[in-house]
Formats: sequence, structure tokens, C-alpha cells
Amino acid sequence: MGNVNSAKHHQPSDQNIIFTNNVGEAIDSIVGEIKPSKLFVLVDTNTDVLVLPRLAAISKAVESATKIVIKAGDEHKDLDTLAQVWSQLSENGATRESMLINVGGGVVTDLGGFAAATFKRGMAFINIPTTLLGAVDAAVGGKTGINFNNIKNQIGAFRQADAVVISATFFDTLSQHDLRSGYAEMIKHGLLESPEVFNRLIDSDVADIDTNAMLNLLQESVLVKKRIVDADPTEKGLRRALNLGHTIGHAYETLALERHSPIPHGYAVAYGMLTELVISHMQLGFPSDTLQRYAKYVAESYSSFNFSCEDYPNLLAYMAHDKKNASPERINFTLLEQVGKIKIDCIVGQQDIKTALDITRDLMGI
Ligand SMILES: NC(=O)c1ccc[n+]([C@@H]2O[C@H](COP(=O)([O-])OP(=O)(O)OC[C@H]3O[C@@H](n4cnc5c(N)ncnc54)[C@H](O)[C@@H]3O)[C@@H](O)[C@H]2O)c1
Ligand SMILES: [Zn+2]
Repeated sequence: MGNVNSAKHHQPSDQNIIFTNNVGEAIDSIVGEIKPSKLFVLVDTNTDVLVLPRLAAISKAVESATKIVIKAGDEHKDLDTLAQVWSQLSENGATRESMLINVGGGVVTDLGGFAAATFKRGMAFINIPTTLLGAVDAAVGGKTGINFNNIKNQIGAFRQADAVVISATFFDTLSQHDLRSGYAEMIKHGLLESPEVFNRLIDSDVADIDTNAMLNLLQESVLVKKRIVDADPTEKGLRRALNLGHTIGHAYETLALERHSPIPHGYAVAYGMLTELVISHMQLGFPSDTLQRYAKYVAESYSSFNFSCEDYPNLLAYMAHDKKNASPERINFTLLEQVGKIKIDCIVGQQDIKTALDITRDLMGI
């Protein structure tokens, strides 16, 4: 269990993260310390039905809060929705001393965090992530924002939540796809951290993990991200380690979207990590037995992503358009020398990427 100190005692990059399956108690304790003048709770149309009644039954703070509901889905993480949240805060008398409790996945915590960071130049907010992806990734680390002009997360701010309460309590209504998608980001943290953490994750199937065991895994995983973020809160260097699997993963995600058969973000990351581990093997000698084990895990848990060499030009173009890349010839990767040994800012040429895509297709058996 983490502590429940008020955020004002922490460095700006430090974040108060509480791991507990007694979520109601934790929220009431944080609210008791910060003593906001008025409470608001932000949910989406799904967490309004699936989570809020359960939370209101165990937390006086949540029960008494003024509710704001937004439409579910990343397509609603936009300016219109943000303006609705600002309006409702304003019409219901929110001040800089009020607090917003974000209850939901990454969409609610990203948009709610940004709404709170900007309303009256900043009111308190806490995150209660209710998806696995939210718990291990979106709700921690201080990146808040919305999509704008068809560009993901184009508008936003770095602003740490005053507290994040992480629990596995609400995962029982998530789909298998949602669980597996979030688990891929946990595996990413395992790859960045150590063979021990990585092995623990790929030796289990996310569908079989009980709530208490999951809480331990969440804690281990979130602390990996927290350590990296605390060392580099505004992504000047080391934080780019968290992009592992994402340069190629985003390209797979975009390709799937262009084909009108979207794949969940975490699935794209699982496939992207496979290709980037192949590149790590080619360029930095990442051990082939670990690569083989990971490939087997992906095949079993994420099936395969179908693409052919005819897709290579498009995939390379999507990678080149990634904001971190100065030119198509200079595509920037986070790679691994071995599990836990990170190398950021590796420049990889197009021919090597094509070879890695060939090997990925072999490993996936497509
Ligand atoms: N800020 C960051 O550092 C960061 C990191 C990664 C991702 N993100 C953002 O997070 C978002 C993706 O997060 P996500 O996958 O949580 O998306 P999401 O918030 O859209 O949640 C996925 C779906 O699950 C529903 N849901 C939420 N909790 C549920 C529950 N307990 N049971 C059943 N259904 C539930 C939601 O209503 C939604 O339909 C994206 O917008 C992405 O950009 C942000
Ligand atoms: Zn991701």
C-alpha cells in the first residue's frame, strides 16, 4: 500500500499512487486530506452504469459528488466533450478549491485531467482507473489531453494527478480484448525492467489472474513506469524508453485502421514489440531464446496480425510520419540489449526494418 500524503508535499514530478482493492476507503481518505470545497465525479456512459453505483456504495465522497457524464470512446476525447465538462464545472459552481474524481479508462483520465488542469488555471483531480490499460499506463505519469484536428493527443498538458488509486476491483466487467490490450503494456514494463518481472508476466494468462494477484502485478508494473517518469517527467530522454514497441506498433495500428478493421492499441503494441525485439536482436544482440519465447507468447495470446511485403511502403511511411522522426531515413527506436537493458534513440535504416518485418512474419507464421 502506498501512502495518502497530500500532493503538496511532493516534488512536481512525484506522484501519489495508492495500490488497494479498498477503493472507497482510499478515496475518502484522500478527500479528507485535501479537503476540497466541492466534489465532482467524471464518468463515461459505460463507467456511469458499470462502476459508479459500486463506487458510490463504498465512498461517501463519490456518493456526494456532482456527476458529469461524457460519451464513451476515444472519438469523444475531443474539444466538444472538453467544453461540455468545463461548462458543467462552471454551471455547478466549481472553483480552484474543488476536486474532480476521474472514474474510467484512459479517455476519462486524459480528458478529465486536462479539464482539471485548465479550469480556473488548475483544480485538484484524482484518477480512479477502471481499465487495465488505464491502471498501468494512462492514469499515471502526468500526461493529460485530447485529440484535435484528427491528431491523437495533440492538445494537452503535463499535470500530475493529486493521487491515483489503482485497483483490480472493476476489471471484472472488461472484455478479454480490453484485458489483453492492457496486459501488453504491462509486458512492455516487464521488458524494460528485468527478466524476473518479464518472466512472471509471460508465465501467466491474464484471464486467469485473480484480483489480489493482479493488484501485486499492477503495483510492480506501475512502479516501473513511475521510476522512469520521475527521472524524466517531460520526456527529454529516458521517458522515451516507454515508446518500446510503439514506433512499429503505431504503424500496425494505422494500417489496421486504414483497412477498416481496427485492432486494439495493446495488440498493436504486442506485435510492435515483437518486431522491435527482432531489430534489437539484429542490432544489439538481444538474446534469440528470449525473442523466441516472446514470439510464442504473442502467437498464443494475441494471435497474429496479417500483413505482406506489399504493406511495407505504407508501414514505413507511417513510421516516418511519427512525430519523433526527423526524416524517413532516420527512424528512431527504443531497443533492448537484453531484458532490462534499454537503449533509447537508436536510428534504424529502412532496409533493416524491412528485414525485421520479414522475420516478424516468419515468427508469426504468416
Ligand atoms: N496519458 C497517458 O500517458 C496515456 C497512456 C496510454 C494511453 N492513453 C490514452 O488512453 C486511452 C485508451 O485507454 P482505455 O483503453 O482505457 O480506453 P477507454 O477509456 O476508451 O476505455 C475502453 C472502454 O472500456 C470502457 N470501460 C471502462 N472501464 C470499464 C470497466 N470497468 N468495465 C467495462 N468497461 C469499461 C470504456 O467506457 C470504453 O468503452 C486513449 O485515449 C489513449 O490515448 C493515455
Ligand atoms: Zn501504448
